[in-house]
Amino acid sequence: MDRHLDKYKNKAAIIFVPEPESEAPVSLTYRELYVQVNEFAALLRDFCGLKAGDRVTVHMPMVPELPVTMLACARLGVIHSVVFGGFSGEACGMRAADSGSQVLITMDGYYRNGKLLDHKAGADIALNIAKKEGTTVEKVLVWRRHPGQNASATPFVEGRDFWVDEILPRYSGEIVAPVPMDSEAPLFLMYTSGSTGKPKGCQHRTGGYLAYVTGCSKYIQDIHPEDVYWCMADIGWITGHSFIVYGPLALAATSVIYEGVPTYPDAGRVWRIAERLDVNIFHTSPTAIRMLRKSGHDEPTKYKYHFKHMTTVGEPIEPEVWRWYYETVGKGEAVIVDTWWQTENGGFLCSTKPALDPMKPGSAGPGVPGIYPMIYDEMGEEVHAGSGKAGNICIRNPWPGIMQTIWGDRERFVAQYYAKYCKDTNSKRWQDWPYFAADGAVLAVDGYFRILGRVDDVINVAGHRLGTKEIESACLTVPEVAEAAVVPVVDEIKGRVPEVYIVLQPDVQASQEIVDKVNHVIETMIGKIARPRRILVVPDMPKTRSGKLMRRILAALSNNMATGDITTLANPDVVESVRVLVQGKEAVVLQEGPEDLKTFGANE
Ligand code: WTA
Repeated sequence: MDRHLDKYKNKAAIIFVPEPESEAPVSLTYRELYVQVNEFAALLRDFCGLKAGDRVTVHMPMVPELPVTMLACARLGVIHSVVFGGFSGEACGMRAADSGSQVLITMDGYYRNGKLLDHKAGADIALNIAKKEGTTVEKVLVWRRHPGQNASATPFVEGRDFWVDEILPRYSGEIVAPVPMDSEAPLFLMYTSGSTGKPKGCQHRTGGYLAYVTGCSKYIQDIHPEDVYWCMADIGWITGHSFIVYGPLALAATSVIYEGVPTYPDAGRVWRIAERLDVNIFHTSPTAIRMLRKSGHDEPTKYKYHFKHMTTVGEPIEPEVWRWYYETVGKGEAVIVDTWWQTENGGFLCSTKPALDPMKPGSAGPGVPGIYPMIYDEMGEEVHAGSGKAGNICIRNPWPGIMQTIWGDRERFVAQYYAKYCKDTNSKRWQDWPYFAADGAVLAVDGYFRILGRVDDVINVAGHRLGTKEIESACLTVPEVAEAAVVPVVDEIKGRVPEVYIVLQPDVQASQEIVDKVNHVIETMIGKIARPRRILVVPDMPKTRSGKLMRRILAALSNNMATGDITTLANPDVVESVRVLVQGKEAVVLQEGPEDLKTFGANE
C-alpha cells in the first residue's frame, strides 16, 4: 500500500459493491486505504495494546473494513486469523482459542440474500466457547454496517465490546510507522479442515507468502495496475486472502469486493456488476459457474462487459461447464486459467500460463513456474506421464508460499504433509521431503495434471473444505447418538455435499426430533455450509472384524456405486438393510462413480 502512494494514490484500491442495489458501490483510493489502515492500526496498538506476534481473530463479512483490519494487523506485525464469516460462533470460538487471540474483530451485521443478518451474535457464542477452551478474549471490536444504526439485537458487554466507529475518531489522521518484521515472521493463520476433528491453523510467513502471491497474481492472473479485477471468493478463505487482498493490492490493481449472493436479486447481478465497474479479470469457482449457468444460461450475453482473463479454482471443473464459462461468460475473448492449490500453499501449484500454454478443459495444467509436481502411487513409486493411472500428487520442491507449520503443532505438520513419501526422516535435504497434497491426480503425456479430488477425509462442498471428522464430532454431541459417519455425495451444483449416517443409543427410538437435533448441532457447531443432504438413522454401521467403520461402503450406497467386496465385514447383512434405507426397496442401478469417491476412506 505504502509503495503505491507516489504513483497511484488517487486510484481505486478497492471497490465495494453492497448487496442491496439501492446502495451505490463505494471506492477506496490507495490514499484512503492507507489512511484507514493507519488509523485502525493506531487503534489496535493504543486502545487494544496489541504488538508484533500477538494473534487477533477476525470474523467478518465481505466489506472493505475486512482488508483494512487485516492490513492494520500486518502493519503492526500482529498475526491475523480470519475466520470465514459464514462459520458459526462456535467454530469461530474454537479457532480463537487455538490461536490464543486476545481480541476478536467482528461486525454488527451484513446483507445476504436481501436480509440484514445479525452477525455480532456469533461473537458472544465464540467468546464463551473460547473461555471453555481456556482462552479469554478481552476485547471485541465491532464495525458498523450502517452509520448510526445497529444491525445486531445482542446487547453489548460493558468494558468488553466496543463500536469501532466510536473509538476510531480518537486516532484520526494518525500515521503508524510499519513495524519491520523478519521475512520469516508469521503474517497470518488460516484454519482449514484436515483428517482429524480439529481444524489446523496454517501459518503463513511474511516475506515468502507476499512474494509468492504477488508473482502468481502477476504471471498467472495477468494483473496490472490498470486492471479492474474481481475475485468472487470470500476473504475468509485462502483464495480471498491471496487473490482479493494481498496479491492484487501488491500490484496496485483495483480489487472488487462484493458483499452478497451472486444471484441476488436475480441471475444477472454478477454481469451487471461486471458491466458497471468495467471488470476485465474475473475469478470464481466451478460451483459459482454451475449455479450461474443453471439460473441464467444466457444472462451474460445481455451485458456489455469484456473479460480478458478468467480463473477457476477450488474444485475440478467439468468440461461442459468450462465451455460455458469460455463461450458465454468469456464471450470467447477471455483466456481461462484453472488453478489448483490449497490453503497450505499460499498460491498456485498447477495452472497454465495465460496466452502461452494451451488451455485444456478439465485439466489444471503443468506446475506453475517454480513448482515441480509429480505423482506417487501408494507404494512410493512414481506414476509416469501418460500411464493413465491415478495417484497422489506431490510437489518435489519447497517454494516461497508454502505454510511454515501448523500453529502450535509441528509434529502434525510433518506427519500430515511430509512423512508419507520421505525415505530418510533424518535427512536435512529438501529433496528427501516431497510435499504430499492429499489430492488424487492423473498426469497426461503433455505434462498436464488433472486433479481428481481429495484422498483424505475432507469433503469439498462448493469449493469449501469440510472435515468429515468435524461433522461427526458435532453429531456425537447429541446424547441420543451412539455413532456417526459422514460421507460425500455428488451434487449437481455444489460438487459434493455431506450425508450423515447415525446409529442411536440402545433403547432410543428414531424420531424426527433427533434428526432435527443433529441438523441443528451441525449448523451451530460448524455453520450452514456443513448442512447435510440427508441424515439417515441406521440400525448399525458396516464394520471390519477389527471394528473399523467402513465409510467407503456408506459412500458407495449414498452415490449408487458398487460397494465392492463386503464378505470380509464383521456384519455384511447390515449393508443390505442400510441400502434399503438409503435407496429404497428396488436396488438402484449401480454406476461407475467419480474417482475421488472410489478411493474415499481408503485410509481407514
Ligand atoms: C481442491 C482452495 C480441482 C483440491 C484454493 C484441494 C481443486 C482443495 C482445484 C483445497 C482445481 C482446489 N481443480 N480441485 N483447480 N483447486 N481444488 O484449501 O481438492 O480451500 O486439495 O484451497 O480444493 O481447498 P482449499
